[in-house]
Amino acid sequence: MDSILIEGGRRLSGEVEASGAKNASLPLMAAALLAESPSRLQGIPRLQDIVTMSAMLERLGARVARAERRGDPHGDLAIDPTDFADLEAPYDLVRKMRASIYVLGPLLGRFGHARVSLPGGCAIGTRPIDLHLRGMEALGATVAIDHGYVDARAPQGRLRGADCIIEGPNGSSVGATCNVLMAAVLAKGRSVLRGAAREPEVGDLIGFLNAMGARIKGAGTSVLEVDGVEGLRGAERRVIPDRIEAGTLLVAAAITGGDVAVRGCIPEHLAEVLVKLEEMGVEIERGEDRVRARYVGRLRPLAVRTMPYPGFPTDMQAQLMAALCLTPGESTITETIYPDRFIHVAELHRMGADITLAHATAVVRGVEKLSGASVMASDLRASAALVLAGLAAEGETECLRVYHLDRGYEQLERKLSQLGAVIERVRYRRTR
Ligand code: EPZ
Repeated sequence: MDSILIEGGRRLSGEVEASGAKNASLPLMAAALLAESPSRLQGIPRLQDIVTMSAMLERLGARVARAERRGDPHGDLAIDPTDFADLEAPYDLVRKMRASIYVLGPLLGRFGHARVSLPGGCAIGTRPIDLHLRGMEALGATVAIDHGYVDARAPQGRLRGADCIIEGPNGSSVGATCNVLMAAVLAKGRSVLRGAAREPEVGDLIGFLNAMGARIKGAGTSVLEVDGVEGLRGAERRVIPDRIEAGTLLVAAAITGGDVAVRGCIPEHLAEVLVKLEEMGVEIERGEDRVRARYVGRLRPLAVRTMPYPGFPTDMQAQLMAALCLTPGESTITETIYPDRFIHVAELHRMGADITLAHATAVVRGVEKLSGASVMASDLRASAALVLAGLAAEGETECLRVYHLDRGYEQLERKLSQLGAVIERVRYRRTR
């Protein structure tokens, strides 16, 4: 397996471009299955999770290809869902990526039947899918669990519109909102989804579905009204920029005492992250599609609670914690979405951080310095936090299990070295 080597202690400065959002791309790709003609998605990042979703769509019988587009290194992702071979999402693909569950809604909505493997365990918590299934049942589906699979069927082959509440004990669910929405767009009659997630990724999906001919109202609010239609056509859409990648790069400015601008992002999607960075003492400049973060002196401690959008995102919790490790004073971080999402804490300890964990709250006491070490984490954002810590640490940090980063950060080493980091990927060579 590859690893990333970082020589810490460089101040990062300069400008980099945000990539397309992984967590918006995945539901858009699944939604393309709903149409009776091909769709084209622009700006889809080149990431392992996108490769996995492409493999899933192909396994179901869709054709997926990157098509050239002048001036765009990503090209278009063309998805042709006209020939279907299968309505079953197998375990060998679902276990690689939980977001594979996104094919449930489109298959059930379009064909009245879907069989999708249950995702199983996850490094950041138990992550149930009960809200997805409850939503499908509200739309009239019969849902059975057998041999590790969800088997969902619509009576007479078509779901019917209904009123459903998609909210769990930890608030709204991005995944369940997207999945139930994709099922409801072809249902007979009107559906109302209450307690819906307001994340920008949901808004992106709504924009795409409406471009395909769906009739959804309420984007950006927690009540979505869907008038079912008889069929959908393929459409074109450019995926929104990745707010979590952008946030990670801005935290890199804070932790290295640097000055980093991210262009091609949507500052509004980062609002709460930017407020927290400002509260820490980082100077933030908001442009139309650009944000600049500049270290202007001693950082201040913070109290942070992760919340569904527009609150502070759980996907930025680990990265912010890395910066708070070097912020004088005592900070607290409470994780309300995934109370066990703290696997980075033990690795940060190995680099000299002072963090105590009680229930879902981490108390972070700023230390003078972190020291480079070999570290690894079995979660994407935890790995990003370790890279950030490595950028600021004294000496060399070796981040193992890089495949987690490759699932969600497009060319992270290239972007960081463009900003002045001394960072390189060491290719794994099998030794005998
Ligand atoms: C999405 O996961 C993201 N993944 C996650 O990003 C992100 O952390 C999460 O949203 C929260 O923002 C993708 O978009 C592919 P949820 P998702 O359903 O949709 C509970 C990353 O690092 N819940 O919004 O699976 C759940 O346990 C990843 O890029 C239920 O109780 O998350 C959690 O407490 C990691 N029952 C809360 O809701 C359900 O059926 C929010 O989860 C579903 C969720």
